[in-house]
Amino acid sequence: MYRIAPSILSANFAKLGQEITDVIDSGADIVHFDVMDNHYVPNLTIGPLVCEAIRPVTDAMIDVHLMVEPVDRIIPDFAKAGANIISFHPEASNHIDRTIGLIKEQGCKAGLVFNPATPLHYLDHVLDKLDLVLIMSVNPGFGGQKFIPEALNKLRAVRKLIDASGRDILLEIDGGVKVDNIAEIARAGADTFVAGSAIYQAGKDADPHRYDSILAAFRAELAKV
Ligand code: DX5
Ligand code: ZN
Repeated sequence: MYRIAPSILSANFAKLGQEITDVIDSGADIVHFDVMDNHYVPNLTIGPLVCEAIRPVTDAMIDVHLMVEPVDRIIPDFAKAGANIISFHPEASNHIDRTIGLIKEQGCKAGLVFNPATPLHYLDHVLDKLDLVLIMSVNPGFGGQKFIPEALNKLRAVRKLIDASGRDILLEIDGGVKVDNIAEIARAGADTFVAGSAIYQAGKDADPHRYDSILAAFRAELAKV
């Protein structure tokens, strides 16, 4: 029931296809794809062309996390490029319900992302349209930051809302997830875990698929929950 979603932000971009194949063959579930625009967040990463390029490399779901503003114009491009889930930040959309509708019209699952200081009231009237809620446990823009513990309280609150809705909505956490905190995060209600630096910095040449040991360590922690 737990899904691990390595963020390719921390992968070796010179070998991106291999990095994705390796991490999925090592037991990861979802490819987390961080899109930054140097406007909504102070960093610049990858766009639809890279999504299209990696699509044939894996059957795993591609989970596109849009940290861009404006958001609507780029959504169809990611849908065409093979994204399965598209998530956006409410602050980056003038019309949140419309943006959710646009993602669904394009045949993708829709997610709403909450920065550390973004209140959960944005869920009030749209939870029944969402397939994923993403709680940021760092301020977006960079990999390798420290987990902000207040995110645990947010996870507990959203877990209650999701359970009360009776709908199948993923509760994803993103930022500072490590082997030593993933169990606590799962106990707070997350079921889907983004991890970038913790996974991609732990590759081992001796592992059959490079990331087997680190993914096994994550799974072992989750098994304790
Ligand atoms: C941050 C991104 C994250 C990031 C996570 O803005 O959304 O997905 O890559 O990296 P780690 O796991 O290193 O905190
Ligand atoms: Zn992300």
